[in-house]
Amino acid sequence: SEDPLVIFTPSGKRARVPAGTTVLAAARRMGVDLDSVCGGRGICSKCQVAPQIGQHTKHGVTVQDDALSGWNAVEARYDEKRGLKPGRRLGCQAEICGDVVLDVPPESQVHRQVIRKAATAREIRMDPATRLYFVEVDEPDMQEPSGDLERLNRALKAQWDLGPVEAPLPLLRKLQPVLRKGGFRVTLAVHQAHRGPARLIDIWPGLYESGLYGLAIDLGSTTIAAHLCDLDTGAVLASAGLMNPQIRFGEDLMSRVSYSMMNPGGDIEMTRAVREAMDQLAADIAAEARVAPAAIVEAVIVCNPVMHHLLLGIDPVELGQAPFALSTSDAVECATAELDLTRLNPCARAYLLPCIAGHVGADAAAVALSEEPGKQDELSLIVDVGTNAEILLGDRNGVLACSSPTGPAFEGAQISSGQRAANGAIDAVRIDPDTKDVRFRVIGSDLWSDDPAFDFEVTGICGSGIIEALAEMRSAGIIDASGLIGSAEQVGTDRLRADNRTHQFVLYETADRTISVTQNDVRAIQLAKSALYAGARLLMDERGVDKVDRVVLAGAFGAHISPKHAMILGMIPDVPLDKVTSAGNAAGTGARIALLNRASRAEIEQTVRRIHKVETAIEPRFQEHFVAANALPHATDPFPELRK
Ligand code: FES
Repeated sequence: SEDPLVIFTPSGKRARVPAGTTVLAAARRMGVDLDSVCGGRGICSKCQVAPQIGQHTKHGVTVQDDALSGWNAVEARYDEKRGLKPGRRLGCQAEICGDVVLDVPPESQVHRQVIRKAATAREIRMDPATRLYFVEVDEPDMQEPSGDLERLNRALKAQWDLGPVEAPLPLLRKLQPVLRKGGFRVTLAVHQAHRGPARLIDIWPGLYESGLYGLAIDLGSTTIAAHLCDLDTGAVLASAGLMNPQIRFGEDLMSRVSYSMMNPGGDIEMTRAVREAMDQLAADIAAEARVAPAAIVEAVIVCNPVMHHLLLGIDPVELGQAPFALSTSDAVECATAELDLTRLNPCARAYLLPCIAGHVGADAAAVALSEEPGKQDELSLIVDVGTNAEILLGDRNGVLACSSPTGPAFEGAQISSGQRAANGAIDAVRIDPDTKDVRFRVIGSDLWSDDPAFDFEVTGICGSGIIEALAEMRSAGIIDASGLIGSAEQVGTDRLRADNRTHQFVLYETADRTISVTQNDVRAIQLAKSALYAGARLLMDERGVDKVDRVVLAGAFGAHISPKHAMILGMIPDVPLDKVTSAGNAAGTGARIALLNRASRAEIEQTVRRIHKVETAIEPRFQEHFVAANALPHATDPFPELRK
């Protein structure tokens, strides 16, 4: 008679296999994603499946009660010791006896999909570089004088077709006692990236079941943010951030580069500061998630080129002067210990995404990995606004990149009442065009300031707040197209005050605090937005287009900014408002993708090589665009969408 038919769900894969084949063996043969850490020894329970007994008209089969073999001794022992969920079987033990439909639950899939929140974004297919393998190693004997590592590698090859692994010194020290403690049955954490040798990361006696974790780190010039991810499920277990302590050496990147130029050893000080902060962050986040720091086996880091060099301990002086040569633009893989990250697993690995160019870093590469402009039909302009704006423009036909020196005004710095986006900061503003009355909202409160229940301490104005304030002032005729703030007499509101031969507009006033927009504030934002717009236009020139299909705002700032207000100021090119979306922290997401899926590392390394880099600093047209973009919204470019 015919061999039994096996159908796996949710993949829908089907094949006939000889009776007596185990479910795990059938899955392997059919290319079905079914996990196993213990290699079929009936101890890890990663291979669980749920047989679907009964009629399946969809699949055209009826599954009898005895489609799988009964429990054998191994499975019975597992159930007795650990308890199998009702309806579940160990795939490595159960044998196929008749036609069967087998459901593979998500926790039994190695390459389960991690659902991301963003609607447009791709899902992440789990395929981390570091995984666990249970092996049984031959014991040494007098007849065969091989070392423990050699025998361990032989076992890895025979049982998992993997390796040989390189074992760093700390593990060579650990290897012998652990092998003996486990009776030569041990669990290995092996790091096998998309290239390079397989490396032993850690070893435990017997079956290790506590899980492996990784950090996705977005190392910014002002803040360092990290996510702790479970390398099995992809879940983010904790997120934390702290200020980059390098701020004391210089607010922005160029001042840090010059600190290094002016002070011998300055780069070493800055390297030490950022490494200490990252180490502390790793310890904090592990504590928050109640994860043993030694279980953190990988860190993927994205950052701009200056931070990249300072973290690696490379003097960034070349990045401060033309032609802005990077030490390397390739991705860097090293031991976290080499970066003085001492609170993770001592043999954990670090991966830094490749840089795109001397001004366009691994953070922009991470945005490209997350947003995938090169796979879209629509021409996307992706703007990541920080102290520098990193700009990508592209579609299937190619991607261009540049960075533009916006300065920190969009982050609330250099603004008279500016502050970081934190509780108490004004982040949304409305101005009545007739009465010039102001209402606003602050971070931490859902109410508008004209609500009788509004009772919240107002401390300043953040980046998105100042954008809205300016755009509303422009729409209400309080500032003109050149950015000049009118006088109280001209505009007709006593919120306008004379201020050193210029004027300021008062948003909020109490006995001890005044929050206003000054002429200098307007100028600072004009400079920043001109730089941003000029960078975008330069890429559009290079591509030979005068419009784009969509605009994606990345970064924390992008998540809060109102597209309409950004366009009133001419920060971004004219585009239908519903074509402006926020990608949230796309750089952080890119780091997470690279952490959870090793193939994505190969992908971004190739993508980056194909990105066409445009250098704003030497491009004369950048200056022309910059000057024309100073007006609100623009001196010459039309903004038809604004009139709708
Ligand atoms: Fe480990 Fe089946 S593979 S229990």
